[in-house]
Amino acid sequence: MKILSIESSADETAVSIVHVDGQFPDATYEILGNALHSQIELHAEYGGIFPAMAKREHTKSITPLLEVALDEADMLEGGSHDVTHEQEEKLTTLLYREPDLKEALLNYFESHDKPDIDLIAVTSGPGLEPALWVGVNFAKALSTIWGTPVVPVNHMEGHILASIFDIDRDDQLTEISFPTIALLISGGHTELILMKDWSVYEKIGQTKDDAVGEAYDKVARMLGLPYPGGPQIEKLASEARQQKLPTFTELPRPMLHSGDLDFSFSGLKTAVRYAIEGKELSAADKAAIARDFEDAVTEVLLKKVKMALDEYGAETFIVGGGVSASTHLRNTFNAVLLDSHPHVTAYFPHKKMSTDNAIMIALAGHARALRASNTAAAQLIKADGNRSLHEE
Ligand code: KG4
Ligand code: ZN
Repeated sequence: MKILSIESSADETAVSIVHVDGQFPDATYEILGNALHSQIELHAEYGGIFPAMAKREHTKSITPLLEVALDEADMLEGGSHDVTHEQEEKLTTLLYREPDLKEALLNYFESHDKPDIDLIAVTSGPGLEPALWVGVNFAKALSTIWGTPVVPVNHMEGHILASIFDIDRDDQLTEISFPTIALLISGGHTELILMKDWSVYEKIGQTKDDAVGEAYDKVARMLGLPYPGGPQIEKLASEARQQKLPTFTELPRPMLHSGDLDFSFSGLKTAVRYAIEGKELSAADKAAIARDFEDAVTEVLLKKVKMALDEYGAETFIVGGGVSASTHLRNTFNAVLLDSHPHVTAYFPHKKMSTDNAIMIALAGHARALRASNTAAAQLIKADGNRSLHEE
């Protein structure tokens, strides 16, 4: 079966075409086409994602990305079709808030044959609702014209599966043991998830305020570094470690001893603000602060992960989401867990799969394929900015 997957929950617009051979979770996934447009530069000066701008940008890029992905998959077949009056009416209703998208899609439908796609998978949440709606409405529009079913995907399930997708070796999901503990760390989320089986999730811990990625982005901004802050902080912190720079400031380890599996990162961010207030910072100071911050974050995450592994007797540990790209985090987790939890196998996503992409949405779409029913049901799908894995 061929899945067309769509991601637009934050600042990446992405479309993939994945050929699936077999049943979940034993299938082989061949990536036929993969197109992605990042809005990072657009949002850089705001220090975070500007929702209205993100929506506009998704609207502009999504149809060209579909064409690029189909072309790469050798599935962009030319043709000449009249869109019926009835179909156009449906598109008008569906895309009344996105008239430019409707025009782009009409052009596309009029000049291309229906590709050989069996299922459309689209991120319906969590994320920024205006951004999510672009992908969801796009999927519904394709479904309306092609008669293809749509499955609404949880973005976080995508991140979990991305971390165990062996893109370099056999294009399969790695066989894992249950229960599994997953740590999801991105710009919008910080969660500990207990996976009792494939697709069976329970949230066992979460942040009470800022997400880890958000804290990285805010601290970076305070240091005058562009968005996204994670890679910037990581670079400076690694310089500070190489040069063995002394501690700039003793930062707190929020909720380290709270006894539960929850997190809090807003106090850490505030502590950085107080430490630098009114000071003229040298390059070395900034590097030392980045390292102090990264150390504090890593220590708290590690402590809660160990607690969760012990509490549930898990021998598989998955890290997912954009912050999992951090080399320091990977190295520390691997080294410490090897020592304290030698029976635990830890999985991090391939670098290509760590930040938002549509391949992971195809994987999660396949996991949920049984839920996809007919095109009429597709029209009822809603974007849900707060969609939780807990209720999956
Ligand atoms: O998963 P993601 O691409 O988008 C969301 O769903 O939020 O995660 C983006 C977040 C940003 O906050 C970014 O600063 C952070 O991931 N990030 C990193 C690194 N690369 C990206 N954080 C720490 N170290 C990195 N190398
Ligand atoms: Zn994400």
